[in-house]
Amino acid sequence: MSVKKVLRMGEPLLLQKAAPITLFDTLELHQLIQDMEDTMLAMSGAGIAAPQIGVSLQVVIFGQKELKNHNPRYPDADSVPYTVLLNPELTPLSDELEEGWEGCLSVPGMRGIVPRYARMKYKGYDQYGNAIERLVSGFHARVVQHECDHLNGVLYPMRITDLRNFGFTDVIFAGQDIQDD
Ligand code: NI
Repeated sequence: MSVKKVLRMGEPLLLQKAAPITLFDTLELHQLIQDMEDTMLAMSGAGIAAPQIGVSLQVVIFGQKELKNHNPRYPDADSVPYTVLLNPELTPLSDELEEGWEGCLSVPGMRGIVPRYARMKYKGYDQYGNAIERLVSGFHARVVQHECDHLNGVLYPMRITDLRNFGFTDVIFAGQDIQDD
C-alpha cells in the first residue's frame, strides 16, 4: 500500500483513546495493517500503532519478520517476532519494573529512559480474529507496553520519571550506531 505520514507529538489524535476493532478480516483492516507495516519499515520503527498514522483504532504492530534484520534504531534490542495485535489487554505478571531507553516515531530524534513492567501477559487478536495470548519479558514486554500506550493516548515522554533522562538521540548516543530518526 503506502508509507503514511506519522503524526508527531502535539497532534490531539495521539492523545485520544482508540476504538476497538469489531470486524476482522476486512479489506479495510488489511489495508490499514499494510500501511502501518510499510510506514514502520520505512522509518525503521520497532513498532507502530494505528493512531500514529491518524487512525484511532486499537491496532498495533511490532517486531521484525526477518529476525536477522538489523534495526538501525534499536541495534541492541532482542529479536521480537513480527506481531499484529488488535484490541490488546495487558496484565503485568509482577510489580517488577525495568528501565530502558525508548524512542517513538511520533517524537523523532529523541530518546528517554522509561520504566516498564519487566514481565507481562498480553492478549488480543490478529487481523483474522484468531486469539493471541503470550507471556513476555525484556524488550518484547517493553515494546508491547509502548505500542499499547498509544491506544490509550499515552506517549512515552509522559512515562519518564526523571526528565534528565530525556534528550536528543544524536547527543545522547554520539558516536554510536544508533540512527537519530
Ligand atoms: Ni511510539
